[in-house]
Amino acid sequence: MAVIGIMDSGVGGLSVFREIRKVLPDESYIYYADNANCPYGDKTPEFIKDRLDAITRHFIDKGAEAMVLACNTATSAAIEYLRKSYSIPFVGMEPAVKPAALGTRSGVIGVLATAGTLKGSKYLNTKGRFEDHVKIIEHVGKGFVELVEKGILSGTEAESTVRVSLAPLLEAGADRIVLGCTHYPFLLETLKKVASDLGYQDVRFIDPAPAVAARLVQVMTENKIGTRDTHPEISFEASGDAGVLKDFFYAFAGI
Ligand code: DGL
Repeated sequence: MAVIGIMDSGVGGLSVFREIRKVLPDESYIYYADNANCPYGDKTPEFIKDRLDAITRHFIDKGAEAMVLACNTATSAAIEYLRKSYSIPFVGMEPAVKPAALGTRSGVIGVLATAGTLKGSKYLNTKGRFEDHVKIIEHVGKGFVELVEKGILSGTEAESTVRVSLAPLLEAGADRIVLGCTHYPFLLETLKKVASDLGYQDVRFIDPAPAVAARLVQVMTENKIGTRDTHPEISFEASGDAGVLKDFFYAFAGI
């Protein structure tokens, strides 16, 4: 039986989990939301590493054979350390700068992510590979994580919060916007509406979740894990309120 551990600071990782379930519907999953410590975006890398150490040990105790860091901030702070410290394979988030750079017509791409991700060497290295070819501008999605954790995905409050961080990217000419935090895809409809209301019709938002799900399939094959489970189970755990997580999952991520 293959158990895959998936973690995020909260409900954001469900935007990745829903893509994983499309390609690996017959595995068992434990989804862990560290929502007592959410948001991760403004925590130190040391704090996040400590949390990931504890969460990884917990997953391994529960039989996890692979782990997905469905969180850009956690990937940035901890994945290299985890790969050195544990023998199970880890799959993390990659900011989708490459597809954005390949798709842009204006030559300007925007990246929305947390402060932790934008400061991390993983993002800075990726950016360095592409910035000779395209102009890359970033903005923290200020208040986005908090909105999503409250289940506020549309309406006036969501639109005015989204506008503050999105408008500068659009005004600078970005026609591809990378969603560099797993919470942000849940705001996709609002992001599109705000862009359109501001007069930018041809903007595309890029979510790396399908690519991460495909990478997990590859990693499972390479590591020979993932026999189809006859009784696949999904469990949800949270360091804070688990009820919010379950409600969110059934409402927005679907089984
Ligand atoms: N969903 C996470 C990410 O992808 C973390 C957001 C946060 O807790 O600040 O970065």
